[in-house]
Amino acid sequence: MVSSLAWSFVFLGLASSVHAACPGAPAPAYPYRVAAGWSATPVLGNLSRPRGIVVDTKGNLLVLERGKGITGHKVDENGCIKSSKIVVEDPNLNHGIDVHPSGKSIVASTPDLAYQWDYDADDLEATDRRTLITSMLGPGHNTRTLHISRKSPDYLVVSVGSGSNIDEGAFQAVAGRAQIRSFDTRNLGAEGSTFTDGNAGKVLGFGMRNSVGIAEDREGTIHSIDNSVDDAYRVNVVTGQVLDIHNDNPAEKVYALGQANNANESFFGGAPYCYTVYDPAPITDLSLQPGDYFALQPNSSFNDAWCSANAARPSLILPPHTAPLDMKFGVKGDNNLYIGLHGSWNRETTIGYKVIVVAGEYSGGKWVPSGGITTGSSDLLTNQNEASCGTGCFRPVGLAFDEDGEKLYVSSDTSGEVFLLKRGSGAFGGFKNHPPSSVMTVVIALPALMWALSQAL
Ligand SMILES: *[C@@H]1O[C@H](CO)[C@@H](O)[C@H](O)[C@H]1NC(C)=O
Ligand SMILES: *[C@@H]1O[C@H](CO)[C@@H](O)[C@H](O)[C@H]1NC(C)=O
Ligand SMILES: *[C@@H]1O[C@H](CO)[C@@H](O)[C@H](O)[C@H]1NC(C)=O
Repeated sequence: MVSSLAWSFVFLGLASSVHAACPGAPAPAYPYRVAAGWSATPVLGNLSRPRGIVVDTKGNLLVLERGKGITGHKVDENGCIKSSKIVVEDPNLNHGIDVHPSGKSIVASTPDLAYQWDYDADDLEATDRRTLITSMLGPGHNTRTLHISRKSPDYLVVSVGSGSNIDEGAFQAVAGRAQIRSFDTRNLGAEGSTFTDGNAGKVLGFGMRNSVGIAEDREGTIHSIDNSVDDAYRVNVVTGQVLDIHNDNPAEKVYALGQANNANESFFGGAPYCYTVYDPAPITDLSLQPGDYFALQPNSSFNDAWCSANAARPSLILPPHTAPLDMKFGVKGDNNLYIGLHGSWNRETTIGYKVIVVAGEYSGGKWVPSGGITTGSSDLLTNQNEASCGTGCFRPVGLAFDEDGEKLYVSSDTSGEVFLLKRGSGAFGGFKNHPPSSVMTVVIALPALMWALSQAL
């Protein structure tokens, strides 16, 4: 502990002597690395489990802190924090947040409700809270991601995850679980509308096991990124033998859902019956490719052929259990997709715990990965060693670009931090690769750690 803290101070000292690095920035909780061509530093620390983040129309950073509310942060031209204040005090807010493109209202979510406030970006003040969506409370996954369409700002996209690992209700759009809906906010009731009120909200996708990340590309197409099933198995159709295939299957996946104001109500993401192959090798009774569908336990109604015919094909697959919680498309001429991976708990060797970049292009009115469904990624911000993250790491949750797309903020709930990433090496005077430490700076008791890992999403 001593040596790692000492390193932090050495580096902070260096940084401030070389360049006007972020004044008052906290030392990182864990050592980290950033890709060549970028620099990174924590700008906020000791927050209350920061989840969703967004940059408002005046360049302020808003952070949803679980168990606390929403905090607002004025930033200087370098992206460093100048001042902070509480914008909304509400310990029930737990994940979703967005700012209307007018800059005049914000939305945020509890496990049950989506709220809207009038918002003043100059004073970082939110007033006159209204309830937009109700009745989202359920068992299982409890984040409700909110995205206000930039192309059609009257539409609010809301994601609700499944009620359990394999949730039979996910196949019924009316159940209101494991799905993404797009609400025309002009049609909401005075006291809000229920999540399943079909007059206000249309289904953008159902059978979406837990699509925590929602992002809109420059053409207005809404994309989701799904956290797929844990403990996956395959019942061999010939022998009846049950194979444990969970370590490398199924894939996490990105879907292009369509425009917020034109919901395709029959877009089916496969859950709870159909999952997407990441590594075909363990599924020995079929000859499959990465990206193909398979059923865990095929029967006469729900089997591999049925899945291939009925479930929508993802645009991109990612390694299993990496737990993508947010993604953002690059701004202006940047065609990359940036994805925050919270990291695995249901895998032998830990994986994820980083921000990755996927190269893409615009084609047919929407973003597509440049190498098709199996396009790989490169690392942008990583822990020192993701394979040892079982003993503690930062875990990326929310991503937010500034208006120019030059600065990217990344929240990490386990470490209570927000990082600032900037294009250009050495922008923090050498604060580029934080040196390794053999001892963690934050010591978490084992039970607390196991709990934190099990609450992965
Ligand atoms: C972190 O926050 C807690 C609660 O707000 C406070 O009591 C504590 O002093 C803070 N620690 C540091 C190092 O700022
Ligand atoms: C709706 O989504 C399904 C599943 O991907 C697709 O087959 C169908 O063509 C889509 N319909 C429209 C109108 O886009
Ligand atoms: C097929 O499996 C599904 C999911 O386990 C189950 O709900 C359904 O009843 C089964 N159908 C048949 C015909 O066995």
